[in-house]
Amino acid sequence: HLKALVQKLTDTHQLEREEWVTLLQGQSPEFSEYLFALARKVRQKHYGTDVYVRGLIEFTNYCRNDCYYCGIRKSNPTASRYRLSPEEILSCCRIGYRLGFRTFVLQGGEDGYYTDARLVPLVERIKTSYPDCAITLSVGERDRNSYQRLFDAGADRYLLRHETFQHTHYSKLHPASLSAGHRQDCLWTLKEIGYQVGTGFMVGSPFQTDQHLAEDLLFITRLNPQMVGIGPFIPHHATPFAKKSAGTLEKTLFLLALLRLLLPKVLLPATTALGTIHPKGRELGILAGANVVMPNLSPTSVRKDYALYDNKICTGDEAAECRVCLERRVNSIGYQITTARGDSLNLDSYS
Ligand code: SAM
Ligand code: FES
Repeated sequence: HLKALVQKLTDTHQLEREEWVTLLQGQSPEFSEYLFALARKVRQKHYGTDVYVRGLIEFTNYCRNDCYYCGIRKSNPTASRYRLSPEEILSCCRIGYRLGFRTFVLQGGEDGYYTDARLVPLVERIKTSYPDCAITLSVGERDRNSYQRLFDAGADRYLLRHETFQHTHYSKLHPASLSAGHRQDCLWTLKEIGYQVGTGFMVGSPFQTDQHLAEDLLFITRLNPQMVGIGPFIPHHATPFAKKSAGTLEKTLFLLALLRLLLPKVLLPATTALGTIHPKGRELGILAGANVVMPNLSPTSVRKDYALYDNKICTGDEAAECRVCLERRVNSIGYQITTARGDSLNLDSYS
């Protein structure tokens, strides 16, 4: 029965809510291995054994929001706040370009300092200096006008995880000032403007059920994004969820494989959070269908301060070598890093 559902998913790229729940509840080591092999085959067909790299620049950890799971939430007084200046960000790009990166991801908290008046010229400067590079922004919820101005300035892609589709669940993870509906509206707006969009969610976030995950997968089917970022929830000691348990490696890998079958051409990162809950998490992610890694390009002096969760990897002295480290890891499982810009092939068709 499970295999028949997988066949349906592979053939039609959609499932009913109840069918998703059945698949999710069927997770077992054997069934997972079966899915991973299928996911590898699908990924192989579209992307071969190439793994795309994106240089991640975590440029500010100031945030106006207060998400209950997040270590840089505004009510965490123990967070040591930093903000990179435009010059520092450009210097990260310079170093990254020399290392072969052709996508820069600017990610940060929702920092009131980075208004359009400051962010637009920054995006323009990066685009002018590196016209052959893609710029990805991940700076949270803004209004349509702002998204449009940033797009016009040269931003190509936008990452905004929907976090969880189901409204009641969303409200258990966020204060009342934030809503699932508004977040989803932002994603539709970004898409309309012409961004390549990435959505996603945490696996094993507090109160999450397989029904919630089924809703997430249905939403992703409708949105048909170019990228989907998922990683395990990991508690941060200075948040309301300090005592909640983390999402598991097994479930995250299982969902990566399902996403690969759902959207064969989607860009699917093996995330830092996955590498944090297991020493080989990112390699296992690639073997379950992921095809992107996002090494950190932020200056080593600030990396430990972008602490969304506890024990985050790549924040110590070794961190300057992320590019090399990842190359070695990717090669060790028979894949190779490509420095191509790596636009998503998930534009309109599935063939
Ligand atoms: N402010 C932007 C936004 O809201 O999209 C980007 C930064 S936000 C910190 C990036 C992502 O980190 C979130 O979408 C969330 O899924 C993830 N994240 C936050 N806290 C986490 C935790 N404790 N464990 C795992 N992932 C977490
Ligand atoms: Fe950062 Fe390995 S990827 S140290």
